[in-house]
Amino acid sequence: MSFALDRDTAVGGADLAGTRFRARRIGDAPARRWAYTLFMVGDSSTRGPCPVDDGDTWFARAFDALYLDLYRHRDGREAAVFTRALQAKEVRGPFCEVACGPGRFLRALADAGETACGLDLSAPLLARAREVLSGGSLVRGDMRVLPFRGGAFGAVLLLFTSFGYFADPDDDRRVLAEAVRILRPDGSFVLDFLNAGATVRSLVAMSRREVAGVRVVERRWVDPRGPFLRKTVEAEPGEAGLPGLPRGERVRLYEPRELRALVAAHGLTVVAEFGDYEGTSFEAEESARFILVTRLEGTR
Ligand SMILES: C[S@@+](CC[C@H](N)C(=O)[O-])C[C@H]1O[C@@H](n2cnc3c(N)ncnc32)[C@H](O)[C@@H]1O
Repeated sequence: MSFALDRDTAVGGADLAGTRFRARRIGDAPARRWAYTLFMVGDSSTRGPCPVDDGDTWFARAFDALYLDLYRHRDGREAAVFTRALQAKEVRGPFCEVACGPGRFLRALADAGETACGLDLSAPLLARAREVLSGGSLVRGDMRVLPFRGGAFGAVLLLFTSFGYFADPDDDRRVLAEAVRILRPDGSFVLDFLNAGATVRSLVAMSRREVAGVRVVERRWVDPRGPFLRKTVEAEPGEAGLPGLPRGERVRLYEPRELRALVAAHGLTVVAEFGDYEGTSFEAEESARFILVTRLEGTR
């Protein structure tokens, strides 16, 4: 990846997965340590419809205000239960939740007395996070290029399937490398992903429900090209529709063994595998989630 930065303003452009981003350099000039924040050019939340429609940047459009209605059941109660499960495994702050979305985990961490900051790409979800958090820092940016200094955090969290979004799996590896870079030498990294096998076995190809007063159809399938788990949401024929529909979601279907290998390749040791947010041990056949609690164990 390369940036064309203006020398005076430290603002410029970058290309990722064929998409044009604006880049802004931030950091410590005397120490010559730099990080970059990236903003998608044409981001629908600030500039009208995103001009890129090839599916590879779906994640920049799908996490809008409607996401909050579609995933209403993913709430603060679940986040509070999970926070207790992490504390029981001695996961210690300061915390950084990458892809924090509407801030339900940040809120639970704050309620549990922890210091936490969050990063997300979605302006509408960050706006919601600002409403639910009385303080704390929230940063808008891309998980592949984190705007934090190295070794700043006791724990980095990547929760509720916020991984596997990119067309190029090297970008997923970049996310892990960035998470490790900002961890203290003994820091914890927590990856909460779906359990691929169980998810595919129980996949409901089509379902209907009402969202924000509109009847929608959700379709789910496995695309062998990743393989990816794909989902579309559309208004039922004859419905008035909703802003944000139709929409698509796409997640690379990493198997547990692939995720174990990925974290190991980034110098992380698994200290626990949960199968749900309560901290129950992972069971390959049954668990809905595959949650890895890992630690750097002073390997740097
Ligand atoms: C499934 S949501 C999870 C949100 C939050 N962790 C939770 O559990 O409520 C995925 C989040 O990833 C964010 N996201 C997607 N692509 C991103 C990227 N490239 N960089 C940073 N955040 C991203 C979305 O905006 C969204 O908030």
